[in-house]
Amino acid sequence: MTVTPHETRHDEGTTVPATDRPVHDLVGVGFGPANLGLAIALAERGADGSGPALDGVFLERQEAFGWHRGMLLEDATMQVSFLKDLVTPRNPASDYGFLSFLHHAGRLHDFINHKTLFPLRREFHDYLSWCADRVADRVRYGHEVVRVLPVRGAGDRVAHLDVVARDADGGEVVLRARNVVFAPGLRPRMPEGTGMSDRVWHNEYLLDRLAELGPEASPHAFVVVGAGQSAAEVVEHLHRRFPASHVHAVFSRYGYSPSDDSPFANRIFDPEAVDAFHTAPPDVKRRLNGYHRNTNYSVVDPDLIDALYRRHYAEKVEGVQRLHLHNTARVAGLVEGPEGVAVAVEDLVTGKQTPVAADHVVFATGYHPADPRPLLGDLAGLLVSTDDGLPAVERDHRVVTGDDLTCGLYLQGGTEHTHGVSSSLLSNVATRAAEIIDSIAARTP
Ligand code: FDA
Ligand code: NAP
Repeated sequence: MTVTPHETRHDEGTTVPATDRPVHDLVGVGFGPANLGLAIALAERGADGSGPALDGVFLERQEAFGWHRGMLLEDATMQVSFLKDLVTPRNPASDYGFLSFLHHAGRLHDFINHKTLFPLRREFHDYLSWCADRVADRVRYGHEVVRVLPVRGAGDRVAHLDVVARDADGGEVVLRARNVVFAPGLRPRMPEGTGMSDRVWHNEYLLDRLAELGPEASPHAFVVVGAGQSAAEVVEHLHRRFPASHVHAVFSRYGYSPSDDSPFANRIFDPEAVDAFHTAPPDVKRRLNGYHRNTNYSVVDPDLIDALYRRHYAEKVEGVQRLHLHNTARVAGLVEGPEGVAVAVEDLVTGKQTPVAADHVVFATGYHPADPRPLLGDLAGLLVSTDDGLPAVERDHRVVTGDDLTCGLYLQGGTEHTHGVSSSLLSNVATRAAEIIDSIAARTP
């Protein structure tokens, strides 16, 4: 069922005229960890009376909660301390913390004995899902936000926003908001001119694509492109899971480089670093992002580097090489046929090309933040931009707009240019939720 912009379809299936549409204090676009953290902060605020309750509804296109499911590899661990869970830095007494989850799961002592700050990603996914279930009344799953429309009020200024979502049946649902909080996450990045296909994948969908191959599959060879954490995890996984397959790692570096997890560098993820970054002049911002890029991008956990090296060396000792490292190299050609993919791997030093016959090619070539502006249509013209043409964003995560707009647009993620490297990560999810709620509360009549 399609609803005209003048009416809303409620969950009960009735329609109401646009003028009678209830106005939510906030509507969240996406329900990954960022907006989940926000939903919990709203629930706790309502329960403990720390301020007047604000109502929020979240729209998520997936049918159920899921956090990068295609990369929930067996042994993959978190890249951030569990103490930076959805709540602890904001409210260490919260019962939505990772330790409360472990207690609930009956594993608290076992985890303590493990002496680690970095749980398995699978376990953290269970924790996030446990949290999501507890605030399920605030989420509409299977709802993809397709556009956001202005609702003009006094003085013809945009006072509210109508958030239009497509539901699982293809119908449209409209929610009206005083504030919209965008947290649409990351999008897989493929090299320019390369598309995904049955044989050419991005690592984001790895486990989905492997599941489609079936349990008996034993491909002859995989090519994995990239030298970041995703690429290294995919190489390790494919090599272990398919004991008869060749795995060709192709990357432009000389070797996998370790992520900088040292304590002083780690401070770049602290809320105080966001304060400093936000006020820094543009050239200092750029320099800081450059200096600390190796805390997050194109780098690999040192334990995983050691494991891969050990395996590669052991194969040399045995004289049977299945793990092939093509360093200082690039994919110069890729031709897909019925039997597989003919990949031309070019050595960047010599220019020599080596043909590799692969069954599947996995591009672990990173992600870019989803841009919410296409959802805004003409409204995007009311946003103030930085010199780089990106949205200008206040310290409280509110997008800077002209006076024509009195309602609020907030961003969680996609703000590396204004808030620094932690923007797309979990490090500040808890604190950022409090900052956004305080900002909205201060502006709510
Ligand atoms: P996230 O991408 O998780 O969620 C966005 C949600 O919005 C998705 O559920 C999506 O379906 C939904 N959505 C998008 N558009 C929509 C629309 N139009 N309508 C409705 N819904 C929409 N960081 C870290 O700090 N520590 C770590 O250990 C890791 N590990 C890690 C592993 C892997 C494999 C990747 C790819 C990334 C990480 N990260 C990470 C970084 C990662 O960005 C971070 O963990 C969170 O996923 C960020 O949460 P968000 O909610 O911002 O985005
Ligand atoms: P990334 O760090 O951005 O690495 C991308 C890699 O692809 C780099 O090696 C890059 O080359 C290469 N690349 C980019 N474009 C290319 C192109 N056109 N052609 C060839 N190579 C190209 O991406 P990521 O590894 O997916 O990591 C992204 C985020 O996810 C990080 O925050 C990471 O910590 C997180 N992550 C976490 C886990 C976990 O928690 N266990 C697992 C996976 C990912 P250069 O080396 O030249 O830059």
